[in-house]
Amino acid sequence: MARITASVYTSHVPAIGAAMDLHKTQEDYWKPVFAGYDFSRQWMKDNTPDVVFLVYNDHATAFNLDLIPTFAIGTAAEFRPADEGWGPRPVPKVIGHPELASHIAQSVIQQDFDLTIVNRMDVDHGLTVPLSLMCGELDPVRDAWPCPVIPFAVNVVQYPVPSGRRCFALGQAIRKAVESFDEDLNVHIWGTGGMSHQLQGARAGLINRAWDNAWLDQMISDPVGCANVPHIDYVREAGSEGIELVMWLIARGAMADVNEGKATGPQPRVVHRFYHVPASNTAVGHLILENA
Ligand code: DHB
Ligand code: FE
Repeated sequence: MARITASVYTSHVPAIGAAMDLHKTQEDYWKPVFAGYDFSRQWMKDNTPDVVFLVYNDHATAFNLDLIPTFAIGTAAEFRPADEGWGPRPVPKVIGHPELASHIAQSVIQQDFDLTIVNRMDVDHGLTVPLSLMCGELDPVRDAWPCPVIPFAVNVVQYPVPSGRRCFALGQAIRKAVESFDEDLNVHIWGTGGMSHQLQGARAGLINRAWDNAWLDQMISDPVGCANVPHIDYVREAGSEGIELVMWLIARGAMADVNEGKATGPQPRVVHRFYHVPASNTAVGHLILENA
């Protein structure tokens, strides 16, 4: 059967993608950001999964105010990097896994989460920046991402957005779905977005290091408590775009210590943890957890 063995969490700041695409990663400003991912790139090479289930948010690229799916699963054979106004990023196209994605859709919908099924979409920085951070610079034509990717888009842009609690429960349903797929596949689940940032309004530029790090501690060791953090706390403490962090709880809910809403099993191993300010207007957070 298929199994989730590890989860990866990372911010997806678009300026990070631009720094890579414009070969600025060794500049003083960017060097410490990318240094935090040296370990991760080697880990990804040493532990390449068969499939990445990548939880991210679309930023009015594939969806807009005409159509706002709360949870959308990409079932296509491939996904093109989107044009977000500066042309598509020069990165390889994303190869999907239609069989596993369709199976997860079937299983998760039967577990009472009503997913939107997306058979065609382009993927923006929310998905391509985490891939670039974890996999390094790749030629858009000659190279390929190291494995197929199932994009899973969450609405955290237009209210009402889903609660952390709902995301955490969904992660548990996704793990059940993966474990009922009848093929030996090693699957990693990624939660992306965050950490504290606010891109608009009077508090634009807000960063809250203390809150971010306390949230990371709790996400690791008390995921049930973390899942119960209300929206208003994210917005008040981590800024309006800090709400992206609820997506990390989908990946955390899919880890093996969580069963029937409780974290009773052995806590996952923290194999890497990184936090840095600033990257553009944002705090960057990153974790890799392996099942114990
Ligand atoms: C920015 C955009 C994002 O989507 C994000 O999560 C962080 C930063 C930006 O435009 O700087
Ligand atoms: Fe974002």
